[in-house]
Amino acid sequence: MPSTSLPVTRPNAAEADAVVRIRELSPGGMDVVARLAAIERTVWTRPWSAAQLAASGNAPGALTLVAEAADNGGGGAGGAFSAVVGFAVFQVAADEAELLRIAVHPSRQQQGIGWRLLEAGLRQLQRQGVRRVFLEVARDNRAAIALYHGSGFRETGVRKSYYEASGTDALLMCCEPAAV
Ligand SMILES: CC(C)(COP(=O)(O)OP(=O)(O)OC[C@H]1O[C@@H](n2cnc3c(N)ncnc32)[C@H](O)[C@@H]1OP(=O)(O)O)[C@@H](O)C(=O)NCCC(=O)NCCS
Repeated sequence: MPSTSLPVTRPNAAEADAVVRIRELSPGGMDVVARLAAIERTVWTRPWSAAQLAASGNAPGALTLVAEAADNGGGGAGGAFSAVVGFAVFQVAADEAELLRIAVHPSRQQQGIGWRLLEAGLRQLQRQGVRRVFLEVARDNRAAIALYHGSGFRETGVRKSYYEASGTDALLMCCEPAAV
């Protein structure tokens, strides 16, 4: 099967940088973790708690990226970024990684933030020597599947009735972050 390259940077990346910043979660940043947990509660029926997020973020090999919006909505040089609007959690083991979690606050979805979180994560993982990134997603999660396809992931398998509560299948997906 051919390897998958990262998509080219979207044309409005510079403007996007002015309004949303992607950064790595600092160890012990519990105030930020509490805000990630608040986003969890808005998008999941079984959200991770702040303690679960902190544990996964502090685990060896974890990479947690946080998306923060500019306070003035327009960013610009010297602008502050403090509103946490999304995050992604990866777990690395040797040269492979898994995307454990990605979420964007509902009020900020479909503005390219999920794509930027994923792109930043894949680039960081690539720099760390990760060759393959895996994830699983509910077959009926159209938004996430479209995001993953657009970020270079391909489907590699299905786990039938994987999600117990709904009986929904899980799609298994994989991406090989190529050199950029
Ligand atoms: C999945 C999720 C992270 C996407 O974040 P987002 O910031 O809205 O995504 P983006 O704006 O970066 O969109 C990237 C691509 O995803 C797709 N997409 C995003 N939302 C979509 C929607 N509601 N319907 C269809 N496609 C959608 C589009 O292909 C889009 O590319 P385009 O803008 O060029 O058309 C967000 O919907 C979310 O937090 N969902 C709840 C949590 C979740 O399901 N996480 C994934 C679990 S596996």
